[in-house]
Amino acid sequence: MPSAADIVLSVVDPADEPSRHAWWAVGESASRDRAYDAWPSWGAAGPELASPRTDTDVTLVLAVDAQQRPVGAGRLTLSTMDNPHLAEVEVYVAPDARRQGVGSAVLADLEERAVVAGRTTALGTTYAPVGAESAGSLFCAARGYPVASHEETKLLDLGTAPATWPALDDEVARHLGGYTVVGFEDVVPEAYVEDFCALLCTFLTMIPTGDVDFEDEVWTPERLHEHERHTAASGRTWIVALALTPEGRACGFTEVGISRAEPRMASVGGTMVAAEHRGHRLGLAMKMHNHRRLLELFPGCQHVETGNAGVNAAMNAVNEALGYRVVERSLDVQKRLAPAGSRRV
Ligand SMILES: CC(C)(COP(=O)(O)OP(=O)(O)OC[C@H]1O[C@@H](n2cnc3c(N)ncnc32)[C@H](O)[C@@H]1OP(=O)(O)O)[C@@H](O)C(=O)NCCC(=O)NCCS
Repeated sequence: MPSAADIVLSVVDPADEPSRHAWWAVGESASRDRAYDAWPSWGAAGPELASPRTDTDVTLVLAVDAQQRPVGAGRLTLSTMDNPHLAEVEVYVAPDARRQGVGSAVLADLEERAVVAGRTTALGTTYAPVGAESAGSLFCAARGYPVASHEETKLLDLGTAPATWPALDDEVARHLGGYTVVGFEDVVPEAYVEDFCALLCTFLTMIPTGDVDFEDEVWTPERLHEHERHTAASGRTWIVALALTPEGRACGFTEVGISRAEPRMASVGGTMVAAEHRGHRLGLAMKMHNHRRLLELFPGCQHVETGNAGVNAAMNAVNEALGYRVVERSLDVQKRLAPAGSRRV
């Protein structure tokens, strides 16, 4: 049994495969009590963890016990393009090393790094069964992280759901008017880069996110191209559908990402329709287009996962129509960090 006093924390060099694997393995063991197989396989996660980004600073921290056994893992993610007050924190502890203070030690280390970087709000996400608490939700409450947004994780079974989609095609056709949907993979066609960036800039503050302290993100063509480069280097395929106005301007998007090494599960990144273009079933139209393309490219893909706020009625209606079902609660938690000078040592 480790005790917090025996724990040694160190920063993982993402280029060092054994350390990277040790970090991944702690996260894998810590995620086994999730409602589904949520943690990516090593084949999927390894290249992503190794691929540096220029729009985000990522620090991986590993905790080992007195026997040098990896028992805890943390990740600190700092956007360098926007939201300069935010720090995203993730903490994982192996099941047989819990309730010994390892999680608290890893979290304190991440918070310290966030404060040194000038961040004032720490943000995390933890998961719990529907109608119940989990180790993660109780840990967050105990460590001063109240819930800022109640979200839900949803899964779509691609083996059964598509049978129900033809009926939805009729509904979409009745509402689309002059709007259309186009799709592409991996690289945004030049004609849509500017409009897509404009949509991404408003996405975070447009969707319901409760009390989470988000500011608008900054998306430039350079950042979009960096995202394309990082996705490709991570071994992932990025599948996007855009909604187009009758004039041919992009007014909405939906996107999924999937690991080419292990294409069992795809994840939705984001979906939005600009406010003035709603009411044409564009959310449904784009998602059907994108999910069908996903199945064409990866016929063995079994599930798509997504997450959004329980109060997001419009998105929930689209997801329900497509066949998504809620599998767990996903809680966005947040804590104000005391500035460096005012911290007790
Ligand atoms: C959440 C997690 C990191 C906690 O790790 P840990 O090493 O057990 O945490 P600590 O020992 O530092 O616990 C600190 C306090 O949190 C609370 N807590 C943690 N786990 C708890 C549990 N299962 N039930 C009740 N309270 C719990 C307690 O108040 C605990 O203090 P105590 O043991 O003195 O009562 C671990 O359970 C885990 O990896 N879960 C899956 C990933 C996750 O949800 N991460 C958190 C969000 S980023």
